[in-house]
Amino acid sequence: MANRTPLIAGNWKLHKDCAESIAFAEALNKAIPADIDVDVMVAPTFTALYPVCECLKTSPIAVAAQDMFWETKGAWTGEISAEMIRSCGCTHVIIGHSERRQFFGETDETVNAKLKAALSAGLIPVICIGETDEERKAEKTFEVLETQVKMGLKGLSAAELSSAVLAYEPVWAIGTGNTATPEMVQEVHAFLRKVVADGFQKELANAMRILYGGSVKSGNIAELMALEDVDGALVGGASLETESFSGIVRYK
Ligand code: PGA
Repeated sequence: MANRTPLIAGNWKLHKDCAESIAFAEALNKAIPADIDVDVMVAPTFTALYPVCECLKTSPIAVAAQDMFWETKGAWTGEISAEMIRSCGCTHVIIGHSERRQFFGETDETVNAKLKAALSAGLIPVICIGETDEERKAEKTFEVLETQVKMGLKGLSAAELSSAVLAYEPVWAIGTGNTATPEMVQEVHAFLRKVVADGFQKELANAMRILYGGSVKSGNIAELMALEDVDGALVGGASLETESFSGIVRYK
């Protein structure tokens, strides 16, 4: 099996103002051992990115934006470019989160444009995909996920995608307390690795980290991480408190 360093990522969504974000980042930095053998990432709101990056400058905790725009500059009121995110000190960016897809018109095409811009700016993208409850019930899960991967990653080479991280987040499991069963998760992750192997390159598929997201907490992280094709987690609700997030990070 490929040697993939696990990544535990916290998505703060629309939570915590600047002062709260700084205080929380400081608390996490104290709670998470500096020599931990998993990669840790947090995604504050845009307005808290710079202060949180400053605060975590000497820490192993990486900082991500929750979204970005694909253009570098111009008359795009309200948008933020990959370079701007980099300039705050961020190393990662979340792209295509299901809340962006559901509520803000994100499509596989915009995900693809953002992914290209993120990679050319040197950001590590965490690309989110996932089926809705309706799609799972209609037995379209695999078809939907394959399309999201193929369209989202379209036009990029295996070399360009070498840093990319995939996050499988079944929409029906996000913020609902309904985690997918370990069997479901492993089945999907193995399938995703095959889609990447067939559509891009076997080596890329073996090296690519595939995270699971959707109601991950300290009580279920160990069984998820024990699955062969799960390389980490994207955590929402349980990433907002020091104890619960550091508990997830120290799942071993
Ligand atoms: P949740 O969110 O952990 O609160 O379910 C996960 C996510 O949206 O990334």
